[in-house]
Amino acid sequence: EESKKIVLEDDPALGETTKAKISGLTSLRSKRVRVSGWVHRLRSQKGIIFLILRDGTGYLQTVLSGRVSETYEALTLTLESSVELVGTLQAVPEGKTAPGGHELVVDYWKVLGAAPGGDEAFTNRLNEKSDPSIQADLRHLVIRGETSSSVLRLRAMLLRAFRDVYAKSDFLEVTPPCIVQTQVEGGATLFGFNYYGQNAYLTQSSQLYLETCLPALGNVFCVQESFRAENSHTRRHLSEYTHMEGEMAFVTFEELMSHIETLVCETVDALLADPVAAGIIQQLNPGFKSPARPFRRISYKEAIQWLNEHGIQHPEEDKDGNNVLDEAGKPKMVDHVVGDDIAEAAERQMTDIIGTPIFLHSFPAELKAFYMKRIPGDRGFTESCDLLMPNVGEIMGGSMRISDNEELLEAYKREGIDPKPYYWFTDQRKYGTCEHGGYGLGIERVLAWLANRYTVRECSLYPRWPGRATP
Ligand code: 4AD
Repeated sequence: EESKKIVLEDDPALGETTKAKISGLTSLRSKRVRVSGWVHRLRSQKGIIFLILRDGTGYLQTVLSGRVSETYEALTLTLESSVELVGTLQAVPEGKTAPGGHELVVDYWKVLGAAPGGDEAFTNRLNEKSDPSIQADLRHLVIRGETSSSVLRLRAMLLRAFRDVYAKSDFLEVTPPCIVQTQVEGGATLFGFNYYGQNAYLTQSSQLYLETCLPALGNVFCVQESFRAENSHTRRHLSEYTHMEGEMAFVTFEELMSHIETLVCETVDALLADPVAAGIIQQLNPGFKSPARPFRRISYKEAIQWLNEHGIQHPEEDKDGNNVLDEAGKPKMVDHVVGDDIAEAAERQMTDIIGTPIFLHSFPAELKAFYMKRIPGDRGFTESCDLLMPNVGEIMGGSMRISDNEELLEAYKREGIDPKPYYWFTDQRKYGTCEHGGYGLGIERVLAWLANRYTVRECSLYPRWPGRATP
């Protein structure tokens, strides 16, 4: 009852205030400042309230004591309420730590939007013990957490760093469409829909469009959502992911691979040179170091041999793709032979044993997409490469492209693709063809590697996987 009688006033006699975001406070030490945000943590002790404020740009330790901690609002304050705080910013005493090295001594404050307490309290709806499916339903609240918001902040910095490296390398950014009428990576993973009475798909890859840009714009890249109707419930598959793709004209396979290596390494170096990004990486992935260059290169044929030498087998499948069972009724494990797809489990074991980035290259043509260039002199195999990272596996897939018109027409035929809707892609070979190649990186996978996340689902703002499109 007493507390209801205390009314705080924003007293102008206390001096001018500067409205600021938490990240911009350092230059305002010893000044009177006004900050708004959300109650991230709350603790009260002997009538003093210690409140950690969060505004999306950082965290601020604040202290409410005396009259300002005795109001009704103060006594009923809840986590995740939004508040405005006014006070003097003071450096924390020697030997004490606080985010930014300062704390706000509050002389006036108010609640802007109170969050519920009791059953509906934030920590009752969501906490570390919440079931994964509840966490997925409450992704909009999960992202307020320290870890999730750090991952998303790092994601933004990663994209910016990639774009900076591209700008330095004279690659132009283009924005290809999401609505398409051609496939790139096989019909099995296309999401189709009715487009004004015609069949259309959500894009799997912008590669074909990027190829058409080369004669117009030179080397190009894009950052675009790609969609895969893959019924894969794995740590590294999403139904929608952010696909960063690049395409280069007049290059050799060797030049393509060294460009990819430079792109990845210069981007990581730029992040590690930025104190904020480096801090987040250290927080999420302590001990992370920029990978050694050059990346180890292993051909597909060498990898098959390596797997067999290391006793890494795979379940034998019958011609319908079902596992063959042994006498005990368990999947029968067999050695790899040239021609086998190296499955996720084997690839992951190999990457984790080797422990460094690996360029796995020169895959058999029959395992790869229709557009890939064959290796001159070893035409069963292609100038293709995947970049594998410890803990995640494949983060990038790329290749040289078929540059010859006739050869492309044969490739359509072999894959049973109707060339008609691809006329514009074919024209690329007809009007001044060139040797060219490119690649696509899954941004969520790069982030899972950099930030040491268990799954790519943590690396997407609102991840989509089979059955999940909410929130
Ligand atoms: O290997 P992919 O399928 O290659 C392409 O789409 C090429 N057309 C790219 C190009 O050459 N321009 O996919 C490229 C990368 C993979 O290495 C992986 O990082 C990511 O895209 N990716 C996925 N990420 C999350 N969920 C999925 N379902 C993914 N499928 C591919």
